[in-house]
Amino acid sequence: MRSLLAVFALLAATPVAAQPARPSETAASPDGQIVLTVSTDNDERPTWSLSRKGKLLIAPSSLGFLLTDGPALQRGFRIDSAERGKGDATWELPWGERRFVRDRHNELLVRFQQHESRGGHVMNVRFRLFDDGIGFRYELPEQPAMKTARIADEVTEFDIASPGTAWWITGGEWNRYEQIYQKTPIDGVATAHTPITMRLDDGTHLAFHEAALVDYSAMWLKRAEGRKFRATLSPSSGGPRVVRDLPFATPWRTIRIADDAAGLVASDLELNLNEPNKLGDVRWVKPMKYIGIWWGMIRGPWSWGEGPNHGATTARAKQYIDFAAKHGFGGVLVEGWNTGWNGGLFDFTQPAADFDLKGVADYARQKGVTLIGHHETNGHVANYEAQLDDAMKLYGRLGVTSVKTGYVADAGGIIAPGDRPGETRREWHDGQWQVRHHQRVVDTAAKYHISVNAHEPVKDTGLRRTWPNWITREGARGMEYNSWSAFANGGPDHEPTLVYTRMLSGPMDYTPGVLSLAGSNEVPMASTLAKQLGLYLAIYSPVQMAADRIENLAKYPRELAFIGQVPTDWAESRLIAGEVGDYAIFARKDRASADWYVGGVNDGTARTLALRFDFLEPGKSYTATIYRDGDGATYLTDARHRIAYETIRVKKGDQYKLWLAPGGGAAMRLHPGK
Ligand code: NOJ
Ligand code: CA
Repeated sequence: MRSLLAVFALLAATPVAAQPARPSETAASPDGQIVLTVSTDNDERPTWSLSRKGKLLIAPSSLGFLLTDGPALQRGFRIDSAERGKGDATWELPWGERRFVRDRHNELLVRFQQHESRGGHVMNVRFRLFDDGIGFRYELPEQPAMKTARIADEVTEFDIASPGTAWWITGGEWNRYEQIYQKTPIDGVATAHTPITMRLDDGTHLAFHEAALVDYSAMWLKRAEGRKFRATLSPSSGGPRVVRDLPFATPWRTIRIADDAAGLVASDLELNLNEPNKLGDVRWVKPMKYIGIWWGMIRGPWSWGEGPNHGATTARAKQYIDFAAKHGFGGVLVEGWNTGWNGGLFDFTQPAADFDLKGVADYARQKGVTLIGHHETNGHVANYEAQLDDAMKLYGRLGVTSVKTGYVADAGGIIAPGDRPGETRREWHDGQWQVRHHQRVVDTAAKYHISVNAHEPVKDTGLRRTWPNWITREGARGMEYNSWSAFANGGPDHEPTLVYTRMLSGPMDYTPGVLSLAGSNEVPMASTLAKQLGLYLAIYSPVQMAADRIENLAKYPRELAFIGQVPTDWAESRLIAGEVGDYAIFARKDRASADWYVGGVNDGTARTLALRFDFLEPGKSYTATIYRDGDGATYLTDARHRIAYETIRVKKGDQYKLWLAPGGGAAMRLHPGK
């Protein structure tokens, strides 16, 4: 009797949790703030969760895959083993927003083994924890039960533990990434492209994205329930969304984590998760500003195709080259130079009858300017690939250092080669096939020392680190929409939203510098004149356009002088004031001089900011040349043209009160000395 009581007493004292806990592995960021736990749940599904500063951030979320031809890599797993590592290295970007990038992380590799009855697969997941976020990827090693993975979809989940606001665009839309951003509660998101940015109610900022998207399909995030998101991969015409032989690793699934908007912008998480430069010495990749025979077609009356209003004539190209040489532009883009614009297929080596390609390229070279090439495919990638090498070789021979490519076609409308000669099939702009296509273009271009600026591209996932000739891309609603109807970019919120969403993925060819502030039929833009200058600091691209026609640029000599001066390659960049969707002011230091530049963009609400010049070198005095919104300026009326100029002396620690108009912006150059 006594012994029985003792047993009861013992049982009562034993907490329920003493049921054998599932084995788990944990790891922390170098500063210890972010803690990862990897385990399995009651269905033996691999899970991961995250906390930061002791607070749950990502509740236990599943990992795994569905296959089209075999048992899912989803249930019946146990942790087989784990390995730990760490790294701390600083590496150099050949061009970019900053010169040096620090990669300091802790690593945890977890090997999951599935029961034979469930499929018997081995699935490894490698996690890297940084102070500013985490990344993880799947690594499928060689194994007897699977030679080729035919992936129907991923079941990777992100269960966000607390409520907040999300800024996002819809995945799988007909208009690709060229959408106006939506701002909703996190549990009001549908299916989103990445980066998707969130601000939790406690102020924590998150941005979900991916890094090193190579030979795989892009990840969209689909809200499954509540605040739980599940990865879904861009489709493929072949059935499985991804087909890969083992062994292989997926792209990294990433989350930037910061206390504020500036912390999100400062992070180099995705670049750190990409492979180092594979091209070696890339001094042939040339950051520059450029103008182009372009806005005249976007807003009319010129045409891309040959005809009475053909934009790309030899005479006009030479006129643009002269203007470029005079005003500090390194390149002239000429669109509509080839045949195929009036029907049929594009020919990428055949110039239009009124365009002397070689003559123009030679003329440009004599003037110290480069012709920028253009390959619009209209989504007919089968036609482009058939000519790709010849097309790049021709430009290489002519001394063209960069090419703008284009894939205008609805979502799922890329025409890819079929299985038999002459056959074609349809693919998505961000599916595995098109991801491989972009890689072929970048590889081929590199052979001829040409850089690539892709429009209607796949999103940027930091591949510029590995292939520094993938210099910029579009991949968002660009300036061109402003030509087609008034405020077609969703009003002045668009650019201060881009800074914290699309721009987290990498450089964008937004094409600022429409100084006339008008599109076709004089539709007004949701911008002041000063904002056009602020865009050069807010939206980074190593090749940065002044988009307006040269006749218009010439009417604004002071603004043109600023554009001629502003660098496109920086030693350092920081957001010194800003909130997601509201405003963004950067301070950036030139790589080639001791000059700093400050500027950025505002949304529709006027505001006064107290900027502190904390970043300047101590003991030096700088001359600040300031371009700001003039009194009463607003994007809503003709007062959008009001601009004010100021020259003052500043030093480290000084404060400057900057007024930003509704839809306004500002730019300044800080030059040491007079
Ligand atoms: C769409 C691009 O965004 C635009 O810049 C280009 O001019 C047209 N396609 C034609 O290629
Ligand atoms: Ca476009």
